[in-house]
Amino acid sequence: MKKVMVMVLAVAAAGAFVAGCGGGNTAGNAAPAKVTRPEPKGDYKGKKMPETANAEAAANTWKANCASCHGEGAAGDGSLGSGLNPKPTDLTAAAFQDAVGDDYLFWRISEGNPDMMFGNTSGMRGFSSEIKEEDRWNLVKFIRSKKK
Ligand code: HEC
Repeated sequence: MKKVMVMVLAVAAAGAFVAGCGGGNTAGNAAPAKVTRPEPKGDYKGKKMPETANAEAAANTWKANCASCHGEGAAGDGSLGSGLNPKPTDLTAAAFQDAVGDDYLFWRISEGNPDMMFGNTSGMRGFSSEIKEEDRWNLVKFIRSKKK
């Protein structure tokens, strides 16, 4: 008989980084490149997008879960997004896309707004329990496909 021990690892990385934003970011994320984004935490850091990730396969997932805030084309102009503070990031902006890795995108989609780094009012929540991993990678690919 095999005895299985489940070890729960504490989130060791908690507090291990200092969020670079100096506060007072009340203007929202209209210029997202100006926001200092932390490195993805724990296992998320350095994660590679599978080669099979498919932007078109994410189209429906995007419409159902993301477009209301981020807009159909990911420009941050969804109807629900306009009332939010901070506002949804324009994910199409080259400055944003160049500033972040695939691991960062995957992390944010999975975990939302860890440590409230973009303000504790951020409407961005984590989707790891609702959208399976493969589809979250498809969303990353989808976002990459929208780069302006
Ligand atoms: C209720 C509105 C809302 C929904 C729904 C939503 N988001 Fe967001 N999202 C936001 C807001 C607001 C921000 C900007 C603040 C922040 O980064 O926390 C954001 C930030 C992000 C970021 C990080 C951008 C940055 O500036 O670093 C990514 C990536 C992202 N969203 C992807 C998605 C994806 C993919 C979905 C669908 C699975 C989704 N979001 C659903 C509101 C939303």
